[in-house]
Amino acid sequence: MAGKQSIETQLAQAGTRWDKQAGAISMPIFQTATFAHPALGQSTGFDYSRTSNPTRAALESALAAVEGGAGASFFGSGLAAVDALVRLLSPGDRVVVTEDLYGGTYRLFNQVAKPAGITPVFVDTSDTDAVAQALAQDGVKMLFVESPTNPLLKIADIPALAQLADDHDVLFVVDNTFLTAVGQRPIEMGADLVLYSASKYLAGHNDVVAGALVAQTTELAERIAFIQNAVGAILGPMDSWLVLRGLKTLALRLERQAANAQLLADWLTKQANVKKVYYPGLPDHPQGDRLRDHACGYGAMLAFEVEHPDRVARLLEGVKVFLFAESLGGVESLITYPLVQTHADMDPALLDRLGINNRLLRVSVGIEHAQDLMADLEPLL
Ligand SMILES: Cc1ncc(COP(=O)(O)O)c(C=O)c1O
Repeated sequence: MAGKQSIETQLAQAGTRWDKQAGAISMPIFQTATFAHPALGQSTGFDYSRTSNPTRAALESALAAVEGGAGASFFGSGLAAVDALVRLLSPGDRVVVTEDLYGGTYRLFNQVAKPAGITPVFVDTSDTDAVAQALAQDGVKMLFVESPTNPLLKIADIPALAQLADDHDVLFVVDNTFLTAVGQRPIEMGADLVLYSASKYLAGHNDVVAGALVAQTTELAERIAFIQNAVGAILGPMDSWLVLRGLKTLALRLERQAANAQLLADWLTKQANVKKVYYPGLPDHPQGDRLRDHACGYGAMLAFEVEHPDRVARLLEGVKVFLFAESLGGVESLITYPLVQTHADMDPALLDRLGINNRLLRVSVGIEHAQDLMADLEPLL
C-alpha cells in the first residue's frame, strides 16, 4: 500500500489480518497460558503468555504504530506501567515529575519510589524554566511529564522539554493519557517514552483497567519488554482484546468528546455559580496555544470551581446523566471530586498551593448530547 496510512485508518484496522488460518477480522482472544513447541529448540514465536501472547502482541504493535514508536508493552494498569519506569532507575537517582499529576502516580513516586532511594522532584512542568532548574540538579535521570495535567489541565511545552531532556541526557517520558496519539504525538516531539493509562480513552468504555508504555527506540522497547516479562505485571488476553476493540473507535470518540467538552466549557463560563473553568480550549487558558501548535484538539477533560462548596454534595448526588465516579475517558460522562477522590493521597499543602480545593470538580466528557449534559448540571449549580 502506498504511503503512510492516517491515524484513523490505522486505528480502525487495529488487529485485523492477523488470523491467517480462518481470516477472522476481529483479532482472536488467545486465552492460553502456554504454547506447544513444534520441535526441540523450535518455537511458534510464542512460548508462555507472560512473555508474549498473540492478542497482546497485536495490541502492542497497533499502539506502537499509531504512536510512531519502535515498540509497546501493555501492563495490568497504568500504574504498573509507571512502576516499570521506576525500575529503569537506581537508588540515588532523581526523577523530575509534574507536580499536579494524577494522585496515584504522585503516590507511587512519593511512597514507593522514594523509600527505595529514588527521589521525586515535583515541579510545575508547564513552566519550562522551572524544569530547566530542576534538571540542573545532580543525579536527575528522568523527566516525567503529564500534559495536560490532572486535574488542572496545565499544558507543557513538550518540544522545549524534549530539548532540555536531551541537553541533560535524561529520559523524557510523557503521560499521554488525556489526549492520546490522536491529539498529541510526544514521540514525534522528542519524547523517549509515552505512558498510558489505557483504562481511559484507549479502551474508552469504562470496562477495563490497563496500562502501556511506548518506546521511541528498539533498545528502550526491549528493556521495557524485559521488565514486563521479569516482573510479570502483564495485561491478560481478554483485556488486551477489549483495549484493541476500543482503539478502533478512538478517533471518532475523542472528536465527539472534545467537541462536547468545548461546548460544556463555554457554557460553564456563563453560569453565575461557577467561579472558574479550566479547559485548554478556552481563550483565557494560559497555555492553550501550546495545543494549537502541537496537537489536534483540546481533549475532553475539564475542571471547574463552584462558587459555593456546600453545594458540591447536592450536585454529585443529584446528577442523572453524569455519573459520580472516578476515572475518565469513557463514552459515559463522569464527574469527580479530586480533593477526596483521585488526589486524596497528595500532600495537603501541595493541594492547597495548586488550587485543588473543596470547590473543584473534574469532568470527563462523554459522547452524550451536549444539551443533556448542560441540562443535567444547570439545576444543581
Ligand atoms: C493521567 C493518568 N495517568 C495514569 C493513571 C493510572 O492509571 P490506572 O488507573 O490505569 O492504573 C491515571 C488514572 O486515573 C491517570 O489519570
